[in-house]
Amino acid sequence: MSTPPGGLRSAKWFAGQNVPGFVHRSAMRASGFSRMAFEGRPIVGICNSWSEVVNCNMHFRGLADSVRRGVLAAGGFPLEFPTISLGEQLMKPTTMLFRNLMAMDVEESIRAYPFDAVVLLGGCDKTVPAQLMGAASADVPAIVLTGGPAAPAVFRGKQLGVGTDLWEYIDDVRAGRMSMADYEQLEAAAGPSRGHCPEMGTASTMATIVEGLGMTLPGTAAVPAMDSRRLQVAEECGARAVGLALEQLRPSHVLTAEAFDNAITLMLAVGGSTNAIVHLLAIAGRVGVPLSLDRFHELSARTPLVVNVRPAGQHLVEQVFHAGGIPAVMKSVESLLHTGALTVTGKTVSENLPPSPAADTTVIAPLSAPFQPAQGLAVVRGNLAPNGAVIKCSAATPELLTHRGPALVFENMKDLLARFDDPDLDVTADSVLVLRNAGPRGAPGMPEWGQLPIPTKLLKQGVTDMVRISDARMSGTAYGTCVLHVSPESAAGGPLSLLRDGDMITLDARAGKLDVALTDSQWAERQAECDRAAVPRPARGYAAMYVDRVLQADRGCDFDFLVGRSQNPADEPDAVFDGWVGGW
Ligand code: FES
Repeated sequence: MSTPPGGLRSAKWFAGQNVPGFVHRSAMRASGFSRMAFEGRPIVGICNSWSEVVNCNMHFRGLADSVRRGVLAAGGFPLEFPTISLGEQLMKPTTMLFRNLMAMDVEESIRAYPFDAVVLLGGCDKTVPAQLMGAASADVPAIVLTGGPAAPAVFRGKQLGVGTDLWEYIDDVRAGRMSMADYEQLEAAAGPSRGHCPEMGTASTMATIVEGLGMTLPGTAAVPAMDSRRLQVAEECGARAVGLALEQLRPSHVLTAEAFDNAITLMLAVGGSTNAIVHLLAIAGRVGVPLSLDRFHELSARTPLVVNVRPAGQHLVEQVFHAGGIPAVMKSVESLLHTGALTVTGKTVSENLPPSPAADTTVIAPLSAPFQPAQGLAVVRGNLAPNGAVIKCSAATPELLTHRGPALVFENMKDLLARFDDPDLDVTADSVLVLRNAGPRGAPGMPEWGQLPIPTKLLKQGVTDMVRISDARMSGTAYGTCVLHVSPESAAGGPLSLLRDGDMITLDARAGKLDVALTDSQWAERQAECDRAAVPRPARGYAAMYVDRVLQADRGCDFDFLVGRSQNPADEPDAVFDGWVGGW
């Protein structure tokens, strides 16, 4: 096995005939590993986000065993390690509050331990971006292995997407169309297997994006969680990690501006989650790639929807897999990709692509005959969102994408919950529902509150969609005419904080505009009257640091001190060794 120029990183721990070398080898042998097993071999860390409170990642122990086999088969030595994990459904107040914490955990674990490469095992929504952010900053060779989509749930003969259909059933219960007994049965049926949500929600979008970025082996994203082929690709990822260690192919070599363009193009081609916008901005920030919201708008203008998958279409990710998976999607949009971009295979996108397009064009269409035209996503700006906001046009009611109506403002989620059932609520179908104090600082953590519920009295009249505006995010499985990620947020002094009931709001999503009819003097008056101290802030611990240091949504909600590549030699991956003299 040829070692990289300069030797293996792990040799700094294990090769020295001195006290530190003794201590490190002794620690390994205390774990039962002989020198033959690890010395001189690439050490591959398996960064496992398995947790019993993260149901989507519950199969990762078996997956890690498969990665381990691959590492050993390729001549490396695997060492599995845990980090904090983020379970979308159980973790409160929102996993997004802790994405940066997990990213820090991943980064520091990679940097602090003797890894020559890492395999990142992520699945549930925030685990993948957190691992990518951390690995990008550590810049030790890395490859991602996502957990795969769960088996589809079936309820009364209908195949369900976990989130997409759930929103409909919740409205059915509220409107009296579904009994609570039936709803209980649905609850039992909704999650039939391990794996991430099986439609193109945030987890599947992030898995797709990982392929688009070139950070995993081609074809891995859509392999179902419970399919034996996922274990096989896990072995292949483990083996490839050994190659990455020897070739010294690092995230900074793969995560280029071209790779981000490819990832955004894929996200748009599959009708992916708006959450991915925030994550991509954060990952790009880590590697110093200048990515802005405008790039999403530009690429959206040329990228149609070519995959017929929920929530924008009919199928689940499993059908996308059987139609050829993400490589077939990439083949469809090949002319929109930077095909010369390098990937973790050591080859370019072009070299990785399959020779022929998808066989089943009812699931993956050719670029010439897409399921929906371009501009499935729009970035809107104006005096209500000076730094931008986003709207998923493909999930909206087309007639509402251009709309003028009076604001109905909810101060925060508590206010919304207290009033949206009120039969006397002063609201019509033309109203624009506004939720403030739901952004990164305000909530805090920018939860997925952006799909504001339709007020009950309108729901009973048959209203199914309205224009909704917030500084929150929205689940990748949700739909509706929802303007999200308004930046700056209300808690940071953004214009949402000054809005009042009855203010006339104009949305023109296709033109990229979001404005409210207020004069300069009205803005000034309201600014003078605004009491910003009224927004509560966490006083201690991680949450207090979070609200102090988190950036706005248009910059990915990363911490300001984690953005960019450090020029400080003390931050280099191997600087952990400088000045180290021993462990006793
Ligand atoms: Fe974990 Fe959807 S809740 S992936």
